[in-house]
Parts: sequence; structure tokens; C-alpha cells
Amino acid sequence: MNAKDSSAPLAMTPAQAAREWQRLADAIRHHDALYYQQDAPEISDAEYDVLRRRLEALEKHFPELQAPDSPTQKVGAAPLEKFAKVKHSVPMLSLNNAMSEEEVREWDERVRTFFKPPLEDVDYVCELKIDGVSFSARYEDGVLVLGVTRGDGESGEVITENLKTIPRFPHRLRGYGWPRVLEVRGEIFMKRQDFVELNLQRIKNEEPAFANPRNAAAGSLRQLDSEITRQRKLSYFAYGWGEVSDDVDIGNYHLGFLAKLQNWGFDLVPHGVELAVAVNLEGALAYYLEQQSKRDAGDIQYDIDGMVYKVDRLDWQERLGTVGRAPRWAIAHKFPAEQAVTIVEGIDIQVGRTGTLTPVARLKPITVGGVVVSNATLHNEDEIARKDVRVGDTVVVQRAGDVIPQIVSADAAKRPKQAQPYRFPDHCPVCGSLAVREEGEVARRCTGGLQCKAQLVERLKHFVARGAMDIEGLGEKQIEAFWQDGLIQNVADIFDLPDKADEIASREGWGKKSVENLLAAIEKSRDAPLHKFIFALGIRHIGDITAKLLARHYGSFAAWLAAMRQLPEGGAAAEELDRIDGIGPKVVAALADFFREPHNQDVIQLLAAKLRIADAPAVSVDSSVSGKTVVFTGSLAKMSRAEAKARAESLGAKVAGSVSANTDFVIAGEDAGSKLKKARELGVKILSEEEWLEMIATDK
Ligand code: IVH
Repeated sequence: MNAKDSSAPLAMTPAQAAREWQRLADAIRHHDALYYQQDAPEISDAEYDVLRRRLEALEKHFPELQAPDSPTQKVGAAPLEKFAKVKHSVPMLSLNNAMSEEEVREWDERVRTFFKPPLEDVDYVCELKIDGVSFSARYEDGVLVLGVTRGDGESGEVITENLKTIPRFPHRLRGYGWPRVLEVRGEIFMKRQDFVELNLQRIKNEEPAFANPRNAAAGSLRQLDSEITRQRKLSYFAYGWGEVSDDVDIGNYHLGFLAKLQNWGFDLVPHGVELAVAVNLEGALAYYLEQQSKRDAGDIQYDIDGMVYKVDRLDWQERLGTVGRAPRWAIAHKFPAEQAVTIVEGIDIQVGRTGTLTPVARLKPITVGGVVVSNATLHNEDEIARKDVRVGDTVVVQRAGDVIPQIVSADAAKRPKQAQPYRFPDHCPVCGSLAVREEGEVARRCTGGLQCKAQLVERLKHFVARGAMDIEGLGEKQIEAFWQDGLIQNVADIFDLPDKADEIASREGWGKKSVENLLAAIEKSRDAPLHKFIFALGIRHIGDITAKLLARHYGSFAAWLAAMRQLPEGGAAAEELDRIDGIGPKVVAALADFFREPHNQDVIQLLAAKLRIADAPAVSVDSSVSGKTVVFTGSLAKMSRAEAKARAESLGAKVAGSVSANTDFVIAGEDAGSKLKKARELGVKILSEEEWLEMIATDK
């Protein structure tokens, strides 16, 4: 090939041109893939340029050839191999849900009684809850410098260029008076109409359709090539903020700051017709009903799954603080699930990582609230019996947001004559071990432990998942395949995968680059924070919040392990664990069961040799009470018990429910009783409420 080719005379018929175009476009795509994805170019840059110029020349002469997916429509810049990750300067929180009016009333009550004296009426900002994906956009000196996805809330992926492709998304702040640093947060979504059009196009191109607008938005945002994002017609709304440098007074009202965001050029999440005012609980509930009927009537152009209520006063937001990953000052009031009718074609049993057998109905596919559903959970054996769901039945299914679809009821009148009541298996369908139901439990569980393939593989999947060891590039599919072929048998084997790099590279679907990425991800995960490690083990009842409590309490891997090993004998170790606020007998029993199994202890030993498990910072803050264990008793005059506890915890103290020799302080209010007595007996330091407040007065 020589440079002349690109300027060869274009004396050809349109049909010849079309054939030539196809040949060139295919060749360029092929070389793009070799260059960008496999790092293995076959031609020189100069030769590649000739192909591109020839294609451009063809399209200039025959403009009808210029398809949106033509290689000429892509910017020359190399698509990134992978998204860069950054830590959020202020974590991106999620929301607690209220499924009913009653739950909203309870939340409002908790908000009001958090203060002492309790507040009579709280003004809430009410917003639509958009069913999309959240973003954070950072502006420095008025210029958009960084866009990030939510990720796990602590850190997310850099999507700056993709954000910039969204129509109306400000690249620069408008107006004046903005802070030097401003992080705006909100939701990216796809309007229903844009979603339908995108899917039609994809089906035409023989590409898989997206399941719902939310997935389409997420998939479009996570494109390494921002030109693809640009073609996807995304929309956005802003609803909050992260870091704001303190050269601007954000005022004391949520709505006030939102109004500023609007002046600086952002489209805000709808607050109702002209709702630029906060309303009390009754107002919020009325607004909810109004929006729900609009949604049901199809008057809203995008998916919403509820309303969000936020305490308007920012000083109250600050005092209420957060618990786990969600603020106490906001709640999502979900809309009822959308329903549809279909037929049960079969009932399968799935075995989870702790052995729970979950019945799943295989359904004749049906659209529920815009999403195609073909499976629904039946929860457990009692649930099937109670609803009397049988194979062949006509059933009502419902789905709400991301929750697994459920079966609401079966229509006995439409039942085929031969349909038999479902008999729940008493043996594990995967390994054949006995499946038992413990006293007081609803779940039947496989007793096969790690003999059971299903449990083992589910545990492996959980171990590498986001929030656990978070090993990118090792998803469910890869775990299944590696397990199947004997590359990994237990979680510790994952860290020996680097020795098998060649074997992996020779597998279907793996290239040099993807193996390198996997090895890098494994290497990175060796530095695991203690809480993620504990969570990753997949112990029954140990979710991420409990794992954090454990990590914080024991501080180091060694201390935690030493205590856990003594658990099966009960005694002091079990008592200490039980005393941690937020941990109850179920967790104690689950940990004891886990550590009773020699196999589990062996795996932990193996892992310990391969990982560098970081100590949990015993205290996150530098304050006079950090790391101390305190117990509140009696009635406090200035703060509710909830606020006292929240404040102590935010200063790094551990708040315990009962007094022991390990307690550092007991704060005794009016009418303190047995706990005060116990503190006196044990010689624990006792403080009055005033003394306590004085002690923490200078702490922030
Ligand atoms: S506020 C501190 N407001 O819902 C509170 N979130 O279920 C952080 N969402 O991760 C969120 N619409 O992606 C807020 N008006 C709205 C929202 C909204 C949608 C999403 C957001 C969040 C998720 C939590």
C-alpha cells in the first residue's frame, strides 16, 4: 500500500464505492481492535493513516456512505483501556427506603425525636427519585475538571469526557459567586422514548437490547469511547452537592443551595409544579400521591421509583448525620411495585453461598413496568405453600426498582387440572446433601458446606465482588469457568493465579492485556482493609456494616482472628463480641459456627500468608474520646439518646449497650438505674451529662 492510494481518482459507481467503503471500514475496525484492545498492531501508523484518508475521501464523494458508526465518526484519540478510579472527597451516600406511608411516618418521628426537645414540625424538600445512575461533577474556578461515577460510594470511575457529551450539562458555571471548588451531584438517566429508540436501533444492528432505561444509561455512561456516549442521548438532573470550598456561604437551607446551583446553570431534579418550597410531612405525602398518579398515567417521560424527602435545614442535616451509608436526614419513599400477569413454566431451586435453598419461578417472559421479566423469587418453602404456587399457574408478578421480581399470588381458578402442589426438596439439588431447616428459621439449608459446589462457587463469587475484595476482571462468569477447569478451588487459590498467567492467556476470551489487568487487580487487592476482608469471607449474617463494626472493634487482623478462634468455646470472647453495640446473638452464633470448621480456619491461614490485611484505624478521628467505650444510661436533658450516641460515634467513641470492665465512661442522666450501679461496682468512671458535654466541647 502507498500514499497514492488515498488520493486515487474516485471514478467509480456508487455500488463500487459502497463495496470499497465496507472493505475499508472493516479493515480499520480490525486494526483498531488490534491496536487498542490487544496491543498488537499489524501495520504501521502510516499505513493505517492511508486507510483512514481513503475512507474519508470516499465519504466526501459519496456522502450517503457516511454512517453514524463509520470509523471516521470517531475522534482520533485512543479509547482508554480502562477507567481511572478516584476517591470521592466526600463519600457518595445512598438512601434508606420507606415502602409505606407508615414507614415514612416512623422516619419523621425519628427525625423529630432525634432532637431534645423534639421538633414539632420539620420542613422537607421533596424530589422525584430518578431511576438512573448517580454522578459527581467537580468544578474548579468554575470549570468542569472531573466527572466521577458513584462506584462503591467511596471511590468511583472517572467519566469526565462522557459527562461533557450530555446535552445541557454545564462545562463551565454560569453567573457569578460560585465557590472555588464545587462538586455537584445528581442522576444521569435515559428518557423512555430515547431508550425505546436506542433498543430498536440495537435490534436492527443485531446487538443485544438493554433490559431497561437504567441499564441503558449505565451502559452508555461507562463507555471508554465518549463518542458512543454522545450518540446515546442521555439526560441529567442535579439534586445535591459534595465538596464545596468554604469561600462561599451555602446558607442554612437545602433548597437555598439548590437555587444557587440552578443559577449556576444546572437543571434540578423536579420539585413539583412550582415547588420551590419545603413542606411538612403531610404536604410531602400529598405530593407523593400526586406524583404517583402522574407516573401511573404515563405523564412522566422517564422512570422514577419514588420520592425523596430531605430535611431542609442544613444545620439539622449535619446534626442528624449518617448511619452506615445513608443519611438520617433523608429517605426514599418508594412507589408501589408495578404488576403484571403471566404463567409459571417451572420452579427451580438455587443454592446460595451459605447454603440457603431459594425457589425461583421460571416465567413466561412478560413486561413489568417497562422491563422484561422471566424469573421471580418465591423466597422459601413456606412462601410457596402459603401462596400455593404450582407449575402451570397463572400468577401476578411485581417488580420495584432493582429488587428481584416477586410472585404476589396465584390464580387457583385458572389452574390446569393436573397441577400438583409443589414439593420442596429435602436434599440439596446440587450436591445431594441433606437440606435441613433449623428451629425458628424459614430457610432450608444444604448441609454440604464446602463439599457443595453451589456454596463454594457462590462464596468465590462473593469474595471477589465489589464491596468485598473487589477484584476487577474476575466476575461471576470467570469464577465459574476457572472453578470448572480447576484453576481455583478455594478463595486462597485466587492469589496463585499469577503463576498460571500463561494458562489463562491461552483461554478463549482472554488476551495479553486482559490477563495483565487481572493480575494487576489481584495484586492490588492483596492490600485489603480488614473490614473488606471480613466481609469477603461470606460468613452468614456478616454484611458490610457488621464487618465494619468487627474491624473497628478488634483493630487488627491478628486481634480479630485470635478472638474468633476462641468463639466456639463461648466464654469471654463470645461475651466481648456480644457487647459490641449493633452485634447480637445471631452474629455471635454465625461466627462461632464458621470458626468451628477447621477448613475455614485453614483457608484464613492460607489467605493471611498471601495478603497484607491493613489494620482498621481504631479511631477515625482525633478527639478526647476516640477509641473509648462509653455507655449512656438514664434520661439526658440536652440531647436525645439517639443524638448522644450519634455524636459520640462521630467522635470515634464506641457506644456500648451494657457496662463491663472494658467500659471507659458511663454517662449517667436522670434516674439512672442498674447500669449506674454496675459501673460503681466495677469502678468505671461515671460522668454527668454536663461533664460529658464539657469533655467533648472542644472536639469537632
Ligand atoms: S439524594 C445523601 N436525591 O437514589 C443522599 N438521590 O437510592 C444521596 N437518586 O444513589 C442521594 N433521585 O443515585 C437523591 N432526588 C434524588 C435522587 C436520588 C435518584 C438516586 C441516587 C442515590 C440513590 C439512592
